[in-house]
Amino acid sequence: MKIVVIQGPNLNMLGVRDQNVYGPMKLEDIHAQMKGFAEQNKVEIEFFQSNLEGEIVDRIQECMGDADGIIINPAAYTHTSIAIRDALAAVKIPAIEVHLSNIHAREEFRHTSLTAPVCAGQIVGMGPFGYHLAMIGMLEIFNQVNAMRQAQQQAQEAAQQK
Ligand code: DQA
Repeated sequence: MKIVVIQGPNLNMLGVRDQNVYGPMKLEDIHAQMKGFAEQNKVEIEFFQSNLEGEIVDRIQECMGDADGIIINPAAYTHTSIAIRDALAAVKIPAIEVHLSNIHAREEFRHTSLTAPVCAGQIVGMGPFGYHLAMIGMLEIFNQVNAMRQAQQQAQEAAQQK
């Protein structure tokens, strides 16, 4: 099973930008932790960061037929991007949205997420730990998907034997 982690604009500035909101941890350190956890759980993982909306749309589309799950922090595009929402909906791959800060406790324009309604879940306000929680959530989704596939296969085999 493979997870693609997609990071939106300005997240490459973590550790530099607004440390009182986002904390001191750099994006590469967050990714190193996620990679370690993925390896422990025998899951493939890939990371992508872009400041450009179209590149994020392209990366989501590339997940089709390649990834089993997407962990995404669309950053500021969360609140504006119908294009990213449509891409997530189109690929039909379970996605979990992560925000380091609690977007619901910040400025009003951050309270709305255009992307969350097409995601399996949303994790906010837990800092870098939110990405770890998203990984746990994704493993649970993979378990459910595998159980469903197994049940479908068994039902098919039973039907063939009749
Ligand atoms: C963010 C929240 C967004 O509102 C903001 O534009 C970001 C980061 C977060 O992780 O808390 O860039 O997605």
